Amino acid sequence: MITGKTKVVGVIGHPIEHSMSPPMHNNAFKELNMDYVYVAFHVLPENIEKLIESCKTLDIKGLNVTIPHKTSVIPFLDEIDPTAKKIGAVNTIQFKNGIAKGFNTDGIGAIKSIQEYTTLEGKNVLIIGAGGASKAISFTLINKNINSLIIANRSKENACNLIENIKMQCDFEEISYIDIKDSSDLIDDVDIIINTTPIGMYPKHEVEPPIKTDKINEKHIVMDVIYNPLETVLLKEARLNGATTINGTSMLINQGLESFEIFTGCKASYKSFEEALMEQLK
Ligand SMILES: NC(=O)c1ccc[n+]([C@@H]2O[C@H](COP(=O)([O-])OP(=O)(O)OC[C@H]3O[C@@H](n4cnc5c(N)ncnc54)[C@H](OP(=O)(O)O)[C@@H]3O)[C@@H](O)[C@H]2O)c1
Repeated sequence: MITGKTKVVGVIGHPIEHSMSPPMHNNAFKELNMDYVYVAFHVLPENIEKLIESCKTLDIKGLNVTIPHKTSVIPFLDEIDPTAKKIGAVNTIQFKNGIAKGFNTDGIGAIKSIQEYTTLEGKNVLIIGAGGASKAISFTLINKNINSLIIANRSKENACNLIENIKMQCDFEEISYIDIKDSSDLIDDVDIIINTTPIGMYPKHEVEPPIKTDKINEKHIVMDVIYNPLETVLLKEARLNGATTINGTSMLINQGLESFEIFTGCKASYKSFEEALMEQLK
């Protein structure tokens, strides 16, 4: 029951109605018998500054941040975690003792999902896409002793900006660009392939995969950050070729679990998040 003692956390976005985060977090609060509630707030871009002040006033304990606020919220925070600063995007805000501190849990969420299947040390990784999800995953991956990272993208400029950014801020030189159309030529040389583009996402799910899949085989791990459908056209073709495939639900769950811990100091179970997410995706 919501009482006078119930603590409030939530998510901001524009739009926000379809967010999967409220059911996941609330299911975990229920399982752990914690007196918290997680709500979705529809916040317009012009109200971001006021929003941060309002959260402090209302003693809201934490927020997840989604499109289009992940970057625009940064100037209004008091502190920012070093990884989120490098990525240039925040998806989690902790409010503690009047201080609003930003974090980015997207990258670690994706990396944890891959680590369920393999170690990252010495691996050659191909990331398709150079947008927000790619940035979060790239900056997190390069701290995991991978051997090399290739960014395949439609816009050379966007990919090269990301690469320059990584080279400038981190001590990692084994990073290069390839045009998305040519990226299947490199498949023999990589161990892990991660799609971070929306290609294959519902309702445009019946499309060609973002890269040609004929060279993908049983030695590859292929991850798609898309979680609707659960098996994208890329994952289906990769699975039929014998690869190990990972869909976007585990990244979504793991990034949420990291945020949950930042908000509450407690760990939620993977199962509590998964159960709620699958119910929503049915
Ligand atoms: N599972 C999770 O927890 C999770 C978390 C975050 C995001 N996501 C998903 O990740 C996806 C991307 O999100 P984002 O925030 O990174 O988006 P974003 O910042 O807009 O970046 C999109 C990227 O995809 C590329 N792209 C878009 N449409 C394309 C097309 N038709 N052909 C080729 N390339 C195309 C863009 O290439 P250009 O640079 O050439 O424009 C860009 O590199 C979305 O589907 C989102 O739902 C999932």
